Amino acid sequence: MLKNTASSYGWPMKLLHWLIAILVTMQFFYILAKNNLPEGDPNIGQMMMLHKASGFVIFWLGILFVLWRLANRKPDWPATMSSWQQHLANITHALLYILIILMPLSGILMGMLKGFSINFFNLGTICATRFPQSEALADYFHTLHLYTVWLLGTLIILHIIGALVHKFFYKDDVLKKML
Ligand code: HEM
Ligand code: HEM
Repeated sequence: MLKNTASSYGWPMKLLHWLIAILVTMQFFYILAKNNLPEGDPNIGQMMMLHKASGFVIFWLGILFVLWRLANRKPDWPATMSSWQQHLANITHALLYILIILMPLSGILMGMLKGFSINFFNLGTICATRFPQSEALADYFHTLHLYTVWLLGTLIILHIIGALVHKFFYKDDVLKKML
């Protein structure tokens, strides 16, 4: 099934959701791995390359995800879900959509505005030389990147708890619709 229906998400929505979920989770592991390596270790650069190149992919997948969702209906809420729960889920989802675009965008801009290119998985470079340069704006996006990640991390944890509560406490089909 291509499009979302009243009872389930279509396959493009599921594919994009799980690809983004895996790639975003990996972003935290690359940083964690980098922070645990001894100073001067060549793998630090490798971890940052993976972080930046994957982030670039997440940015475009995030845009596709939002566009596909705008062109599609959302499956019906389970009848047991109260209106405050629906509001909470709607707000969390909206913020997740914004952050999976804003996080990589701030990462891309903080480097590009200083003239740094992105090494795309050692396959080629996404070049920044023609990009307008601004130290001040780069610093702004750097700060944004470092702070918004806490909001994203918190929302992801809330989102996962929500999915598990539906599965094991309410025992409804919310998780099944996304699998
Ligand atoms: C880690 C990054 C993740 C992001 C950025 C993310 C993002 C999203 C977004 C934006 C939606 C809303 C879809 C809509 O518009 O209807 C959604 C739905 C959903 N997600 Fe995630 N998700 C992530 C991880 C997970 C994980 C790990 C699980 C499972 C444990 C999960 C389970 C679900 C379920 C069940 C729905 C459907 C909710 C519903 O129909 O009300 N997600 N996700
Ligand atoms: C969804 C995508 C992304 C997530 C979740 C993410 C997450 C993070 C996290 C958790 C940190 C560590 C923050 C800290 O040390 O306090 C970080 C740092 C960093 N990120 Fe990202 N990031 C993403 C995309 C990107 C992209 C696309 C780029 C660049 C092209 C990038 C470049 C950087 C750089 C250079 C740092 C190190 C900053 C520093 O040490 O001050 N990130 N990111």
